[in-house]
Order: sequence, then structure tokens, then C-alpha cells
Amino acid sequence: MNNAIRRACVIGWPIEHSRSPMIHGYWLKQHGIAGEYGKRAVRAEELEDFLLNLPAHGLVGCNITVPHKERAFDIIRRANPAGLSAQAKALGAVNTVWLDEEGRLNADNTDVYGFMAHFLETVRAQRPDWQAPGRHVVIIGAGGAARAVLAGFAQEGVARITIANRTYEKAERLAEELSGLGEASLHAAPLDALPELLAQADVLVNTTSLGMTGQPPLEVDISPLPEHAVVADIVYVPLKTALLERAERRGLITVDGLGMLLHQAVPGFEKWFGVRPEVTDELRALVEADITRGH
Ligand SMILES: NC(=O)c1ccc[n+]([C@@H]2O[C@H](COP(=O)([O-])OP(=O)(O)OC[C@H]3O[C@@H](n4cnc5c(N)ncnc54)[C@H](OP(=O)(O)O)[C@@H]3O)[C@@H](O)[C@H]2O)c1
Repeated sequence: MNNAIRRACVIGWPIEHSRSPMIHGYWLKQHGIAGEYGKRAVRAEELEDFLLNLPAHGLVGCNITVPHKERAFDIIRRANPAGLSAQAKALGAVNTVWLDEEGRLNADNTDVYGFMAHFLETVRAQRPDWQAPGRHVVIIGAGGAARAVLAGFAQEGVARITIANRTYEKAERLAEELSGLGEASLHAAPLDALPELLAQADVLVNTTSLGMTGQPPLEVDISPLPEHAVVADIVYVPLKTALLERAERRGLITVDGLGMLLHQAVPGFEKWFGVRPEVTDELRALVEADITRGH
């Protein structure tokens, strides 16, 4: 089976709206690789059987999206604990799975890489000397995406991270759980503390689904943010959220959510198809056009 086509896919429930097939399909074509990347709807009760039998499904690996990232971590921890990356272990969630040469399950969480790669590239394109040490990052939200963003900034060496969340206890729990990740001091806050927090923030990141098409708006007054602050949003439908628009109007550097989606796909493609792909302007334009058409 040396010439067998290598196949991967994204699994989730629901899965129809995933743009991962478009991203990987672009790279397969760009590199002339005879591979395939599809999407499969997998229910929670089917997940374990699916992951433990990837070859039977004709797959060399897969991406994992909502709501399976945490359960997939548990399944792989039981099946092959040595196959979990340090990042996966730090987050307790995985989004990229591949089989090694012995056919064992391996997994990583590439959301951290995806967010930070895009954040640093965007910020440094405008401010080349931007460095993380000494910075105070304010994260809105305390769910799975907040966990990845927090880990990214902690590992990059920021001084302080504050998690502001509607459910305060969840912010507290996240700060406690991830406290060993770097030198950063981690703090929890309720949403109504944001005006004070923003006055001392160097970076603001929205990791909630607020502001996404079909969701309630994110009502945050960003006027207290200092002039040098950077504002990031991981929502990418619409591409330019109201938060990013407001930040742009103030002349602040902004980082959108689409770049994270594109960059998190890079390590998986390399594992499955053997080539490290690039996030090109052409790929971005392709996915942007799809997002614009879709809403
Ligand atoms: N750009 C990318 O590549 C990328 C990657 C991953 C995720 N995302 C996006 O990130 C968003 C969050 O994903 P997730 O997996 O972190 O979700 P999650 O685990 O369900 O967390 C959702 C967070 O949003 C908060 N929230 C939801 N509705 C709210 C409301 N009405 N008012 C205030 N807070 C509210 C929740 O607060 P409570 O704790 O109080 O419920 C929680 O902190 C989604 O839109 C997802 O599409 C983007």
C-alpha cells in the first residue's frame, strides 16, 4: 500500500460548516499531493470507536472540533499516553490527531500555536519590536478557546493575565488550573471590572462567541485602553467584528480570528502529508470569500 492515498478529515458534531476541508484542500492542490481531506459528523458516543480505529476508516489522522476536544484527549491518554504533546497535556484538549509509524495514536493542540503565530505576525508587521515580557493581557471568556489563548501568552512570557468572564468561578478555575504554565501571574475578574482592567491592559482578546453572526454583541467600552494596546478577536464570522472595528477606529493594532484558524491547520497538514504548508494571501482570500458568501 505504498502508493495509497493518504486521507485525513475533521470530525465534530455538527460539522457541515467547517472550513478545514477548504484549507487542507488548497494545500493538497498547491503541493500536488495525492491526498484527501474531508469532514465527518461523529457523535459523542461514536468518538472512542472512531479514534481507536482510524485505519479502518481509511484515515492517517484527523482534526477534532467542538464538542470533542476534551473527550478525545481522555481517549488518547488511555490509549497511548506517550503520544500526547506537552501542549495537549497542558490544555487537557486536542484538535490534531495522527498515527505514528507503529500505528499508535498521537495528538497535539495546535490552537495555541495558531493563535500566537498569527498574533505575533500581525503585531510585529506593524510594531517589529513588540515583545511579550512585561505585558498585561486581558482575556474575555473562560472556555476552551480562552484556555488556548492563555497558554499561548503565558508560554510567550507575559507578566500578567486577567481572565474576565460572565461566570466568575470558571475564570477562577482556569486561572488556578493553568497557573504553572509560565512566569505570568493569573487573575480572575467579573465582566464589570473591565473598565478598570482595560486602563492597565496592553492586550485585549475576546475568546467568547459574542459578536459572532447570530450571537449577541460583545458590549465592551474600549475607550479606557491605552494608545499602544492591541485588540484581538477569535471570532471570524464576520471577519471584522464590531470589537475590531471599534479598535481600528481608535487607531489600535487589531488581530482577527481567521488567522488563528488558518495557522492552527499547519502542523496537522505536515504530520499527515509530510510538507509544512504556508498560510498564503491566496488561501486567506479563498476562505474570506467563503465566509463573506456564507452570511
Ligand atoms: N478563530 C479560531 O480558530 C477559533 C478557534 C476556537 C474557537 N473559536 C471561537 O471561539 C468561540 C468560543 O469557543 P469556546 O470553544 O471557547 O466556547 P466555550 O468553551 O463554550 O466558551 C464560551 C465562553 O463564552 C462565554 N459566553 C457565551 N455566551 C455569553 C454571553 N451571552 N455573555 C457573556 N459571556 C458569554 C462563556 O461564558 P460562561 O463561562 O459564563 O458561560 C465562556 O466563557 C466560538 O465562537 C468559536 O467559534 C475560534
